[in-house]
Amino acid sequence: MKRLLSGLQPSGELTIGNYCGGIRQFLQYQKEYDSFLFVPDMHTITVPQANPELIRERIRRFANLYLACGLDPQNCTFYIQSEIPAVNQLTWILECHTYMGELSRMTQYKSKSEKQTNVGCGLFTYPVLMAADIILYDSNVVPVGIDQKQHVELARDIAVRMNNRYGDLFVVPEPIIAKVGAKIKDLQDPTKKMSKSNEDPMGTIFLLDSESDIKKKINRAVTDNDGYVAFDEEKKPGISNLITIYAALSGTPMQEAIDHFTGMTRYGDFKKEVLEVIYETLRPIQAEYQKLSQSDYVDTILDQGRDRANEIASKKYDLVRKAVGFGR
Ligand code: TYM
Repeated sequence: MKRLLSGLQPSGELTIGNYCGGIRQFLQYQKEYDSFLFVPDMHTITVPQANPELIRERIRRFANLYLACGLDPQNCTFYIQSEIPAVNQLTWILECHTYMGELSRMTQYKSKSEKQTNVGCGLFTYPVLMAADIILYDSNVVPVGIDQKQHVELARDIAVRMNNRYGDLFVVPEPIIAKVGAKIKDLQDPTKKMSKSNEDPMGTIFLLDSESDIKKKINRAVTDNDGYVAFDEEKKPGISNLITIYAALSGTPMQEAIDHFTGMTRYGDFKKEVLEVIYETLRPIQAEYQKLSQSDYVDTILDQGRDRANEIASKKYDLVRKAVGFGR
């Protein structure tokens, strides 16, 4: 069975953008693949984090949310990145086979490093850790949103380079990008992507937001003064983003969603329909999350996942270690 792998970084709370670009694809594909979904906690410290306890809380929250969203431990292996020592070990080897020029071209590095004064080396090498996450398990496909595509392509390049140099060590992974919802935009500034770590929470809908907060955010979502609904990402980015959210969450094909709304003149009525779909998506997730977070079930699942992931990862690392000439 082919392997599917992805992760969502606990550097903020999960958003409907993460749901649309990441989790939803897992829901769609989990039965067809041997699926691995992990919490990349080591990636969170690539930018300064004020509170280590909060990272630990989020790791648990993310794992519970994976389950609450309907990802099934029968099909998925869930684990925490830092519990797999071979990821670190492989990262070092891959770093020695990745060029400074390649990492300097990463758009996420460029935009994140601009926002900081003292940029940590880890922010620069972040994509190599991500490549190790992916190729350590011989992952065939990696479902991500558009913002992570470049990193998955780098993982491909590194895998190919390692294979050319040392023989067939790694499966070369492919990104899978959702047709709809691979880049959900910020509600207050629909030219930017919706982000977990945005300073203005009005632009972002979190999976655990209350219905009254969601209503406030959708009602205040930036639109325009044209007075008619139409899909045009350049001229009407706010409206187009809301149509995309509706299509992605309801599973309606994009053209059907566009036809459904085009020509409506009352933005309030349009927003009401979008709001209803968000409520319908999040209600069962939040109810399940409440149940799960009161039990220790997630620990059992994460223990099993860690053991399975470690077994595969340590075997692969051993092959790589020998191939590059380490040890006796
Ligand atoms: P992260 O945590 O930023 O995002 C998690 C997933 O959500 C997608 N995403 C979005 N999709 C649509 N619209 C948006 N506004 C939006 N924002 C985020 C992301 O593309 C991603 O699929 N480095 C990764 C985590 C990671 C990883 C990996 C992923 C570490 N190792 C190995 C895949 C494979 C990250 O920070 O994603």
